[in-house]
Amino acid sequence: MQRVTVRLPQRQQQYDVIIGAGTLVGLGKLARRTLEPSPRRIVVISNRKVFGLYGEKACESLHAAGFTVSKWMMGDGERFKSLATLEQALAFLSRVNLERSDAVVALGGGVVGDLTGFAAASYLRGIKFIQVPTTLLAQIDASVGGKTAVNTATGKNLMGAFHHPRAVLIDTGTLQTLPARELTAGWCECIKHGAAGSRSLFDKTFRSLRENYGSVSTERARRLAALIAAHVAFKASIVAGDEREEVSRTDASSRRILNLGHTVGHALEAATGYRRLLHGEAVGYGMLVAGEISARLGLLDASELELLREAVRRCGRFPPLRNLNERDVLRRIAHDKKASGGHLKWVLLESIGRARIVDGREIGPTVLRASLRTGLDGLSEN
Ligand code: NAD
Ligand code: GLY
Repeated sequence: MQRVTVRLPQRQQQYDVIIGAGTLVGLGKLARRTLEPSPRRIVVISNRKVFGLYGEKACESLHAAGFTVSKWMMGDGERFKSLATLEQALAFLSRVNLERSDAVVALGGGVVGDLTGFAAASYLRGIKFIQVPTTLLAQIDASVGGKTAVNTATGKNLMGAFHHPRAVLIDTGTLQTLPARELTAGWCECIKHGAAGSRSLFDKTFRSLRENYGSVSTERARRLAALIAAHVAFKASIVAGDEREEVSRTDASSRRILNLGHTVGHALEAATGYRRLLHGEAVGYGMLVAGEISARLGLLDASELELLREAVRRCGRFPPLRNLNERDVLRRIAHDKKASGGHLKWVLLESIGRARIVDGREIGPTVLRASLRTGLDGLSEN
């Protein structure tokens, strides 16, 4: 079992991320230890698929630790990360009279985690919660760092709050049931971490991808724990230095660098109606476009761009992006929420492991269009 501590210097707080195969049985004890002063009740928020696989184990552990447990199931899929679902979740917490000293557990992927975190941030102006992420993407990224959100008609993650969990419990054994496509999406976010901020993490991840984790056996899940811990430690270091992603920061250690691939990724998700691409897959495409722009602006060597391409390809198979409306994608890129002062801020690369934040005005329309085409083609034969 591994432990990574997320430090929040500005709040003078910290919390632990526990990582290992089979850790779910320890949920109750972890909740007892981290949810002081003594909550009586816990609501587990999940969806039917994940709860069917892991709900019983989670609830048994909580019962054994003396908690009264209720469960609330949300819909499965990005479209349920909505204000409507949030309202239903809050209504449930009210109906069961959850008190301020009680807590919520998020059992599922990033969709469950983001929605539950926002519900915990809003209910009675903030109650405690624990993240139990069950996808690779949620384990290495979404469950750590306190960003919670829902989507609206105007875009992804536009309403939310910074609200940190009291603990994160990662059971790598849960990845055994994760579909291959979801693993690919998670690997893309792993590559993102390394490419944006740590060459050694990139190399470590690249080597692991050679092992071709199409599915994850118990033994592989154990070996994965060390890699997941390295990713969590990386994310924790970025969050510690820039917890709220300050808009004025444009340095290579700012939290903003974690948005590598997201400007194009979000545009692709929206342009395809959130149906054709998983978030991580869209980020995979988005990183390649950001790499192309970086190379065309003379920031990134051709050999580094090729390495990035190879790494993203190794993440798995990607759905082809045929019949995309390029103008629509470009329009959506222009409205990305990573704009500040009215101008889009791109996360580009100087090298693998070092990001550079670049003002959108430095990227001409010809470079953008050409990079979009070449970047999206980069995975077409995958
Ligand atoms: P997801 O939550 O939709 O989960 C993917 C699918 O896998 C779902 O169908 C889910 O039911 C299923 N599933 C989950 N665990 C499983 C398991 N162990 N076995 C079998 N099936 C399982 O998707 P995701 O990729 O985990 O998360 C994506 C979301 O995370 C997006 O909404 C994104 O915006 C958000 N996100 C948030 C942050 C953050 O910092 N808060 C960071 C990155 C991404
Ligand atoms: N996933 C980006 C962040 O947490 O900042």
